[in-house]
Amino acid sequence: MDMIETVEEPAWAMAIHPRITDARWGEHASASRLHEFEQLVLSCDCLLKASKEVSIRKIIPATLMGSGHLESIAEIVKEEELDVIFVDHNLSPVQQKNIETACNAKVVDRTGLILEIFGARARTREGVLQVQLASLNYQLGRLVHSWTHLERQRGGHGFLGGPGERQIELDRRMIRDSIKKLAAELALVQRMRSTQRVGRQRHDIPTIALVGYTNAGKSTLFNRLTKADVYAADQLFATLDPTLRKLELSSHQSLMLSDTVGFVQDLPHELINAFRATLEEVTEADLILHVRDISDAESPMQKTVVEDTLRHLGLDGDHCPPIIEILNKVDQVPDVQSHILDGIDGSRVAVSALTGQGLSELTQLIQTWMQQGDVSCCMKVHISDGKTIAWCHQYAHVHSENLVDDEWMHFELLLDKKYLHHLSA
Ligand code: GTP
Repeated sequence: MDMIETVEEPAWAMAIHPRITDARWGEHASASRLHEFEQLVLSCDCLLKASKEVSIRKIIPATLMGSGHLESIAEIVKEEELDVIFVDHNLSPVQQKNIETACNAKVVDRTGLILEIFGARARTREGVLQVQLASLNYQLGRLVHSWTHLERQRGGHGFLGGPGERQIELDRRMIRDSIKKLAAELALVQRMRSTQRVGRQRHDIPTIALVGYTNAGKSTLFNRLTKADVYAADQLFATLDPTLRKLELSSHQSLMLSDTVGFVQDLPHELINAFRATLEEVTEADLILHVRDISDAESPMQKTVVEDTLRHLGLDGDHCPPIIEILNKVDQVPDVQSHILDGIDGSRVAVSALTGQGLSELTQLIQTWMQQGDVSCCMKVHISDGKTIAWCHQYAHVHSENLVDDEWMHFELLLDKKYLHHLSA
């Protein structure tokens, strides 16, 4: 029998950014939020046919926005023959359903959209499991909400009978069972990853974590530095799984570089928790490279979001590893000399991951950081002691090695302080 190939048409979509007047974002930030939300919708493989900012002075519990806004959205939906409306706000199940009815199109809220994107992008088993778990928790939360809501309605009007309750109870149980199974599988995968991490720590291989706002250029930089071929695309959240690669510095030191999921403002709580494990690579890192898209007008806001998220992960004060700030995409900023290089000091560097500009300064900075705890020392090793000689080459930077008295090797070394006890042992 011939296979018939069916190609799914992308959905025709509309993006709605509700501007709630008492929100802390100003006029300019609001426009850029709509732009960012449009990018999120496009990341979801939809055809964005329309977008609209709606101003809401008072949130209407049943529909979020007033009937005037709903009518004008419904008109656009009809005219443009749209399938789906993405709303840049978290909606209660009731709000979602009411907007769907009023506008005659499927409605997806911000959390739903981000879950959708994360689901499509996850590449490793761990990533897939984490997204599935987050989606189920999201669904469960909505069932619980609608359950209490229905219960209240039933109490008030008595028009909802038993079957509805039983169905919700059954759905809840099914979801809970799936959550349990997924969580067990996830725990297994995570145990394997943490065993690998302990192995790395045992071999004293330092880890550097790349963090940054989504689309800042982390994967491109990761690829440049490690010459790996990690998927880099002009799509938000192209990276969902931490990807670890070895990075060799010119001082022959090796370290592990990990690429992590991009941060975004108002990341749904479901996802922060689900991705906490993914971000463990960050909490365990010896050094953090914070990649910033310096060409983006919203760069300062993005920096705040990343720093807040790191704090949320418990990384502040003494608990935070040193951070090098990487001002990426300098090729896009014409006045780079005057306004960026001014601020460069020992913890900031301007680069272009795309053209390679500034990368040697960056590796130099990493190297300087790596050598901060280093001490110079000399040692004499008998030539028959191959094990110690090999150790010197593996763990120290060898400045010179000379044969003395025909049977001793004299080494001048640059060595991490923590290895001094190896020498005295
Ligand atoms: P997420 O996976 O969403 O977190 O993104 P990311 O931070 O890993 O960004 P990625 O490396 O995928 O890059 C995003 C886009 O920016 C891609 O189109 C890159 O080609 C582009 N890009 C990255 N670095 C530079 C740069 O230095 N200059 C310019 N002009 N573009 C860059």
